[in-house]
Amino acid sequence: MIAQQFTQQQLIAMLAWQVEMGADEAVLDKPSNDLQPPQSSDDISGSTPTPVSVASQPPSAPTSTAPSAIPVPAPAPPNQTVPVHLHHIDSLSDLATALGQLDSCPLKHTASTMCFADGNAGARLMIIGEAPGRDEDRLGVPFVGAAGHFLDDMLASIGLDRSAVYLTNFLPWRPPGNRSATAEETDMLLPYLYRHIQLADPELVVILGGMPAKTMLKSSDNILKLRGRWQDIDYGDGVMRPTMASLHPAYLMRSPAQKRLAFEDWCGLYHRLGNTPPPVV
Ligand code: URA
Repeated sequence: MIAQQFTQQQLIAMLAWQVEMGADEAVLDKPSNDLQPPQSSDDISGSTPTPVSVASQPPSAPTSTAPSAIPVPAPAPPNQTVPVHLHHIDSLSDLATALGQLDSCPLKHTASTMCFADGNAGARLMIIGEAPGRDEDRLGVPFVGAAGHFLDDMLASIGLDRSAVYLTNFLPWRPPGNRSATAEETDMLLPYLYRHIQLADPELVVILGGMPAKTMLKSSDNILKLRGRWQDIDYGDGVMRPTMASLHPAYLMRSPAQKRLAFEDWCGLYHRLGNTPPPVV
């Protein structure tokens, strides 16, 4: 597309449409294989090196202008720390009470109710969504609206229901107008989420959606890159918990063509839970 062919208004309208469709990262016109290291200047193949999207670089990757610089892999996610005052909280109900008293968080004051969790706190699988939607804000329970119904269908596709999972959200309060959380709000709430994971102590963690995936996996990659890979993450208690990010059900409802990718991820989850695939007849 040649941007000069369009008016500024048309370009803004096109961008707005892409955001509406769920795009959250600027990418190139042509696909590039980011898994392949960039070609060095003494490459004799003669093919033009594929440009690498700036948005796909990990934030901490050192930059170099040297053409033959060897890419340094992003460091493994560091251990998370949970402030000492949260270590004294040793039950989920006390954690919910402490979170409910977090008056310094602006989100608390604009939301109708806090959404702490739903499902079975002793389940092997903990699912972490983004933030309460309108219905969740009204009812105080995560994933009860349309996205929640779709999540129930996804769970049913691998033989699970809410009694087999423990559900929470990255943000316990719906941000006003569904805006993104600020860095200050995220910093304030993340320790509570990690304490939540420690106390629920699931065997496996699934993160749904780009915002929580990027934050919890400490990556600037978008969800389409992060999804489907299991990583052992220490949520601050020294226990490595296998964690996978996947596509959010609300995104899948807006972009049904991506359900195929989510299905792959959920098949991986099915195997992780120790199930063998049904025999093909
Ligand atoms: N989307 C989420 O991420 N969580 C909910 O609870 C509802 C919608």
